[in-house]
Amino acid sequence: MNIQDIISRRISVRAYQPEPASPGDLEAVRLTGEQAEALTGADMQFHLRTDTQMGNEIKGIIGDYGKTIHAPHYIVLASRECDGYLTDAGFRFEQMILDATARGLGTCWVGLMFKEASLRATLGVDDSWRMIVLSPIGRPLKNSLTNRMLRTLAGSKGRKPIDRLFFWQRHGEMLPASVISDRNFMQVLEATRWAPSWMNRQPWRFILLNREILIYKLQRQEREGKDYHRLDCGIAMCHLHLAARALGIRGRWEPGPFDISGISGAEPIGRYVMENKIL
Ligand SMILES: Cc1cc2nc3c(=O)[nH]c(=O)nc-3n(C[C@H](O)[C@H](O)[C@H](O)COP(=O)(O)O)c2cc1C
Repeated sequence: MNIQDIISRRISVRAYQPEPASPGDLEAVRLTGEQAEALTGADMQFHLRTDTQMGNEIKGIIGDYGKTIHAPHYIVLASRECDGYLTDAGFRFEQMILDATARGLGTCWVGLMFKEASLRATLGVDDSWRMIVLSPIGRPLKNSLTNRMLRTLAGSKGRKPIDRLFFWQRHGEMLPASVISDRNFMQVLEATRWAPSWMNRQPWRFILLNREILIYKLQRQEREGKDYHRLDCGIAMCHLHLAARALGIRGRWEPGPFDISGISGAEPIGRYVMENKIL
């Protein structure tokens, strides 16, 4: 499966078959997270647990969406704090999620808005670690009504159109015909547009320059000092990078800042510098 197929196949799965998934696959997915390409030097840990090992921890954890997800396994991401760690957490965890998708496993991003302290105790980690996100993981339950209902509730099915997310040289400026007619490159933007985000808010925007793509975010969604829209940005950055790489574009993400004054509430996140592509 190529990366475009994997990205279009991934959806949030909230209903699972109870049988355990293959231990080999689960450990391979966890290792993809541990060994993922990174944006910072932040220490991160990917903890794999069974439903029983998670026990009561999981109950009510999906508070924001008002529903608990039962799955045979969970992978929890813990990170130490440093500049850019949340964006990096999104970037790395999504590499793992896409690897799970390629193996036919279902996943769902679940932001760890609350319960950091009790989760640390369950995992046996000290309070130098922040609990960032978890995903249930296992074989998806086919044709699940719960899954369909929750996707509708979370407003998951659509994404904003390209012309509301990607701009040319400055915020609000339409992409020129030369970019729109570059069908290969447009696939990179399409893969980015389909990135999952908290409540499908799609808080990211992009400005295309000749050799760079700037990413910034328009809103904050902060709990316990963690702005979840930074995770969302990291996820979109992962999709952009993997789709660009599949086309032979050599690029790397560098941290902001850049000037986006005049765009209400906007915060710069990073710039994608392309070595061998001019727009
Ligand atoms: C950072 C983050 C946190 C999320 N938290 C939850 C959650 O607590 N519960 C849940 O059911 N889905 C959660 N989601 C899943 C989103 O609702 C979902 O990705 C989005 O609606 C797009 O739908 P899709 O993943 O099916 O494409 C979260 C997604 C992200 C990126």
